[in-house]
Parts: sequence; C-alpha cells; structure tokens
Amino acid sequence: MSKRTIVALPGDGIGAVVLNEALRVLDASGFEADYEFGDIGWEFWCREGNPLPVRTLELIKKHKVALFGAITSKPNDEAKAELNPLLQGKGYTYSSPIVGLRQHFDLDICVRPCKSYKGNPLNFVRRGKEAQIEEPLVDVVIFRQNTECLYSGVEWTNPPAQVYQALMTHPKFVDNFSKVPVEELSISTRIFTRKATKRILLAAFEYARKYNYKSVTVCEKPNVVRETSGLMWKLAKEIQKNSFPEIKLLNTNIDAQMMWLTKNPEDYGVIVAGNMFGDIASDAFAGLIGGLGFACSAQFSADGIAVFEPTHGSAPKYAGYDVSIVNPVAMIESACMMLEYLGEDILSAEIRKAVADVIEEGKTRTYDMMKMAGKPEVINNGAASTSQMTDAIIEKLKSNRKNHE
Ligand code: NAI
Ligand code: MG
Repeated sequence: MSKRTIVALPGDGIGAVVLNEALRVLDASGFEADYEFGDIGWEFWCREGNPLPVRTLELIKKHKVALFGAITSKPNDEAKAELNPLLQGKGYTYSSPIVGLRQHFDLDICVRPCKSYKGNPLNFVRRGKEAQIEEPLVDVVIFRQNTECLYSGVEWTNPPAQVYQALMTHPKFVDNFSKVPVEELSISTRIFTRKATKRILLAAFEYARKYNYKSVTVCEKPNVVRETSGLMWKLAKEIQKNSFPEIKLLNTNIDAQMMWLTKNPEDYGVIVAGNMFGDIASDAFAGLIGGLGFACSAQFSADGIAVFEPTHGSAPKYAGYDVSIVNPVAMIESACMMLEYLGEDILSAEIRKAVADVIEEGKTRTYDMMKMAGKPEVINNGAASTSQMTDAIIEKLKSNRKNHE
C-alpha cells in the first residue's frame, strides 16, 4: 500500500515551530506518511504578493489532508509597506490566507473540541455549595459553521442605491433607519443558507452519536435574530426528531451561554452555532481548559478536504526566541484529530493518553501552565521549552507502550 501524503503548512512564527513538534510526535507514534510542505503566510505575501499561492491550493487539492501551523496577518497599511518593492503599486491587496483557504475549499464545518486534562493547573475552578473549590471537567465540542453568517464579507458602508432601496422595503428599516443619511449607514449581513445550516447540524449530531455525547445544544439567539438563528433552531428540531431521537436537543442563547459557561460547563456536550457565535463560544470554552495552548481544531469541506490546526495564531512576540517556549499541545491535539479522521484511532488515543499523563504528572510544564509571563527567562525558571514538552510526550508514549507489552 502506498503511504498517505499529508500537506504540511508551517506558516509563520510559532506556527512553524509547533507544526514541527506535531510531526515529531506523529513519527514517534509510528504513523506512516509522507509530508509535502506547502507555502502559506506572510513571507509569501511579502515576496510574491500572495500569502496563499496557487501551488499550495493545488497541493491541498491533490492530497486532501493538511496539517497547518498558523499564519501572521497584519493591517492593510503594513501589508502594503512590507510588500516586495517590485510588486508595489501593481494592484496586490492582502487578504487572510485562512479565510482564503476556507472560501476556496468551502471548508464549512469547523470542529473545536475543548476538553480539560486532569491536573492542568489552568483548568477552570469554581466554588461549590459549601464554598469548597470544585474543578468541573469540561468536555465540550463546538461545531462552528465556518463560511457564512457575519463573516461572509457581504457588507457596505454607504450602501449602493439598489441595496438601500431593498432595505427600504422592510418596515423595520423604514421605522428605525430611514432618517439616517445613507453615507452614515454601515451594514454587515448575517446570511445563513439552509444547506450549510443543515450540514453543520448533521455533523454535530453525527459526532454526538459516534462519541456518545448525550446532548446537542444549539447556541444562537432565535428569540431575537429570528430568521437566521431561527432557521438553525427549526432545522435542529427536525433533524433531532427524524434522525437522532436518542440525543437530547438543547437551546441556549449565546449571551446566556456565556454566563452559564462558568456555572455549569460540565452540562454541555456538543454545541453547534453559526460562524460568529461559534467563534465566541469556542474561545470562551477554550478559556476553561487552559486557553490557546490547548485549543485544537479541524475544518472540513463537503468534498473531502480536511485541514487540522491549532486555534492560536503565530504569536510573533515568541517567534524569534532561541529556545521556543510555547505550548505544543494544541498542535499535537490537532494532529490527533487528523489521525482520527484518517481512521488511526488507536494511534490518536495513544498520543492523547501520553499528553494526558504528562499533564497529570505535572513534571513537565510549558510557561503558560506555570502561569508565567512569556519571556525567554521562563526556561531558567523551571518551565519546559516547546521541544522538552514534546520530548516528554514522546517518552510517555514509548513508556506507555512498553508497559502494555
Ligand atoms: P496568537 O494566538 O498568536 O497569540 C496570542 C497570545 O496567546 C500569545 O501572545 C501567547 O500569550 C498565547 N499563545 C498563543 N499560542 C500559544 C501557545 N501555543 N502556547 C502558549 N501560549 C500561546 O494571537 P495574536 O497575538 O492575536 O495574533 C498574532 C498573529 O497571529 C496575528 O498576525 C494574527 O493575525 C495571527 N493569527 C493567526 C491565526 C491562525 O493562523 N489560525 C489565528 C489567530 C491569529
Ligand atoms: Mg477566534
């Protein structure tokens, strides 16, 4: 059998660092694959005016599965200034390669698990009934619709006449905004399609069934945002009733969810939401399990493209350190999601167990887990470097296997 080929997309800053660590863990686990490295990120914007070169898109199209570190994005004026002088003034404009990837491959399903590890000093704690400290273990998986909603980019300031006229056909617009001068109007549209909404809901329910989650919670705002959130809630009820009767369907409003988050996070299993509320909910839940060093994600398209990446960015301030200090766990967990997608559930479980054991033992901790400010000195103050953390995970993987022999 020929080996699989995975597209490895290091990107910028710590993206490249943590990707390399994840590849070391995959190798140590015995996962067999060839890696083809793809160009993405700021360097390629500066050099060739495109942070997501066509050759990279071709590579992903060919091999279908990508492991992605993170990229750097900067505001337009900085992008212009850093562009290769030979290309300046030739109509190049910067746009985020992450959004570009999502749009190009229609990666409409984004999955963001937030699971606490026992013994992680960053776990959320609260007071119980008798004022005792409780540490509820969070096991939430957020399904975020990744291509629509407020992030689809259909927006205007000073909208053109046709748009304005269309808005004027809505009585609420007439009542509330018709006296506002058109040039003072900024409008961002929140678009949900039936097809994409159904797809994210089905993905959430199927995941709940496969991994034995008792409930799926729709986290939107259907009492106020009646058309779009209302569509998701209505479809969720149909899907649950017709196809997933054994799974409980819950409904929370995003605002209330943010409050309940710290009251009873253990009560939630799978959460499904549109693009923006899914973004908010996944960052909020990630905060309960240790933050960006632990937040992994996967994105899928309907036609079989899958991209796995940590939620964090390129953390430029830590990128130039001689010894990298950032936590590789989010990236390693993203690689585990990839293994599960490829049917390598055993390898993934072994890696996850090794990560869990290292965290629970608490002997090797990166600076974030030691609640230190991120500085090069953390290494001298007892924090593990990125590669020491990875080494500990690899050692544990090996010793767990030995103990099972
Ligand atoms: P960031 O996620 O890169 O870093 C924010 C802070 O989180 C860091 O300063 C650090 O304190 C912490 N952090 C991040 N990753 C960590 C890790 N693995 N271990 C320990 N601590 C970690 O977000 P920021 O600073 O807002 O953005 C930096 C750049 O990254 C920007 O150019 C931004 O556009 C880009 N970005 C890219 C993303 C991606 O590639 N998916 C996502 C978010 C931001
Ligand atoms: Mg976010």
